[in-house]
Formats: sequence, structure tokens, C-alpha cells
Amino acid sequence: MHALVFHGPGEKAWESVPDPSIVDATDAVVRIDSSTICGTDLHIMKGDTPEVKAGRILGHEAVGTVVEVGAAVTTVAVGDRVLVSCVSSCGRCRFCKEGHYGICSGGGGWIFGYMIDGLQAEFARVPFADTSLYKVPAALSDEQVLFLADILPTAYEVGVLNGRVEPGDTVAIVGAGPIGLAAIMTAKLHTPGRIVAIDLADARLEKALEFGADAVINNGEEDAVAKMMALTGGLGADVAIEAVGVPETFELCTELIRPGGRVANVGVHGRCATLHLERLWIRDVTITTGIVDTRTTPMLLKLIEGGRFDPTVFATHHFPLTATVAAYDVFAAAAETHALKVVLHAVPAGIEHKDHRDAPLAAPVHA
Ligand SMILES: NC(=O)c1ccc[n+]([C@@H]2O[C@H](COP(=O)([O-])OP(=O)(O)OC[C@H]3O[C@@H](n4cnc5c(N)ncnc54)[C@H](O)[C@@H]3O)[C@@H](O)[C@H]2O)c1
Ligand SMILES: [Zn+2]
Ligand SMILES: [Zn+2]
Repeated sequence: MHALVFHGPGEKAWESVPDPSIVDATDAVVRIDSSTICGTDLHIMKGDTPEVKAGRILGHEAVGTVVEVGAAVTTVAVGDRVLVSCVSSCGRCRFCKEGHYGICSGGGGWIFGYMIDGLQAEFARVPFADTSLYKVPAALSDEQVLFLADILPTAYEVGVLNGRVEPGDTVAIVGAGPIGLAAIMTAKLHTPGRIVAIDLADARLEKALEFGADAVINNGEEDAVAKMMALTGGLGADVAIEAVGVPETFELCTELIRPGGRVANVGVHGRCATLHLERLWIRDVTITTGIVDTRTTPMLLKLIEGGRFDPTVFATHHFPLTATVAAYDVFAAAAETHALKVVLHAVPAGIEHKDHRDAPLAAPVHA
């Protein structure tokens, strides 16, 4: 098969690799029908995660079809269409039993495209298939469910739920990339009073308004703290969600919140940020961090099935899987290309699928 292989910082190639096969009885092998690229893949490409070794197949978000199952797999069968999530669950460890699959200590957690070969590939081995795969309802297209693999549950769990967004709250969302926009989309499930998006890029702030932000602040041009204080009668936001992953934006979040407020960090940080305890100790603040557990994925799937929200708005660009390298370039140059999520479509010989019929496959298309 072919796959996107990481060859060290800045180096990658779409190349021929051995086909994956069943290793453990709890594995499945999935043919990847649709995949996508994450901001975290760009962190890996920059060398921010040295634990990812050269030779690793990248990618941790996909929709596919089961082509083989191990002897112990009972809940999915060959031919099932499944969502392959960024987080796997062993189903047996203490953390999985508590629903904290993201910190699974039994070999799960975030492993695809990180600890084991990932999903920007024609096929993938999926460990713990029974407890990690989600069957896709027949009525839903790949594109309707693909973003459940990461950005939607991440923004909802690590941002909105950890930040305990309540009806009426003023929610500041710092960073209006795919994660920040998904935080806007899912924060609305809790009926906040006001959502304020903060970013350096006007194009991203325009997107934030389209996604339902009530106000936006370009913190490169304006004093974000002063503007937030002006918006909230001098108090600050009830919740600030950090969706960038640099020290400045984490520190900004701690300044944006009111006494008793909450900061929910979502960003992946590669550098040390300062925690100003000399100012915060008296302010009763709560700061949370986390990796997504994906425990809300079944609930979010129901909302999509019920037409409550439409994640296809994230899909700005389409490529055939074979053009994954070109797709990385478009995704990495988001400031110029205005890419949010790029969808990588497989076109397996002889298989017709509604996504494939709809998708322009010859050349990248800006939707
Ligand atoms: N915790 C988790 O489980 C988890 C899962 C997935 C992704 N992430 C992380 O979430 C973060 C956001 O992901 P994304 O895909 O949306 O990233 P992205 O890079 O596409 O978007 C980040 C946004 O932040 C803006 N930005 C950059 N510097 C800024 C600054 N100083 N002030 C204000 N805005 C600024 C950019 O203009 C961009 O719009 C990344 O760090 C990613 O690795 C975390
Ligand atoms: Zn990701
Ligand atoms: Zn576990």
C-alpha cells in the first residue's frame, strides 16, 4: 500500500510501505476512505514532538471500511463503515473504565500517527477495535462524521466541558483555527450569553463570526484584555478557551477571565509558559489541561444525525489521498489558502461511494 511517511522534521513522502496486518486478536484492519490533516501533524513536521520517529506513518483522523478483524473482535465486522478516532481505548484500564480514554494506560490513548502507524494511508491496523471504532450510520457521508475523529470532541471536551460553559456565560475563545471554531460550534450547545473570538488573522475572525461568535478581537491590533473588560463591565470573561498552543495565548487567557473564572487549555504547547501565581492566587481561578477522551463522540454523532449541526463547513479543500503531500502544503499555508480542514479521499478501484462521486478529485478545489 501507499502512505504518508514522516522522515524527520520537514521531511515527508507519499510512498510504498508494507500492508498492515492483524497483530493482536483485538485488532482490525481498516481501508481508509477519507482522512484529514491536523494542526498537531504540523507540530510533528516541525519537530515539536521528538518522540515521533522517522519512518512513522502520520495521521489520526479517518473514516474507513473494515477489511479484516482479529479473532477476538466481536462488535465490528468486515464491510462495516467506521470512524477511526484520534484516541484508542483498551477498555480495561482504570482510566478507560472512568471514560478517560485519552490517558489510557493499557496501550491506547493518542497512538495513531504518533506511537503507531497512522491513518494518512490506504490501510491501517486499528488496535482495540471493539472499544475504539464507531460504526457510521448509513445515511451520513464521510465528511459529516470525519471531524468527529478529533476537532469536535477535542473542542467540546477539553474546551467547553473542562471550562464548564454555562447558559449566559461570556466565553472567550483564543485562536480561531479548526479547534477554536469547533469550540464556538459546540459551546453553543450550552447557550452561552456571548462568545468572543480572539485571533491575529482577520480571515479567521471572519470565519468565527460565520460560526456564531458574537464579537471578535484582533489581538495584534487591539488590546484584547482592555476590550474584554469593556465588554464585561470591567469583570472579564467567565471562561477562556486556549486554542493556539503558545505561551502568549495561555497567559492572555489567564488575564481575560473574571475572578472565579475558568481557563481551559486545549493548545499543544512546545514551549514553557509563565503561570502568574503572584496575581492569580487571590482570584479563585480554575485552570484545566487535557487530551481529548472522545467520550462525547457518540453524543456528537447523534447531534449530527439529528441535523443539529453540520460539520461539513470545516471541509474547505479536497484532495485524492495520493496527493497528501500537496494537501499538507495547502493546509500549512492556511493564511494564504484559507484552509480549515482538507479532506483526503481514497478512490479504491471499483468502489463507488457518495463522497467520492461528489468530490472533485483531479485537482485541489477551494470550496
Ligand atoms: N488537547 C488536545 O487534545 C488537542 C487535540 C487537537 C489539537 N490540539 C491543539 O490545539 C491547537 C489549535 O489547533 P488548530 O488545528 O485549530 O490550530 P491552527 O494552527 O490551525 O490555529 C491556531 C489559530 O491561532 C491563531 N494564533 C496564532 N498565534 C496567535 C496569537 N498569538 N494570538 C491569537 N491567535 C493566534 C492563528 O491565526 C490560527 O487561526 C494546536 O496547538 C493543536 O495542536 C490539541
Ligand atoms: Zn489532531
Ligand atoms: Zn485503557
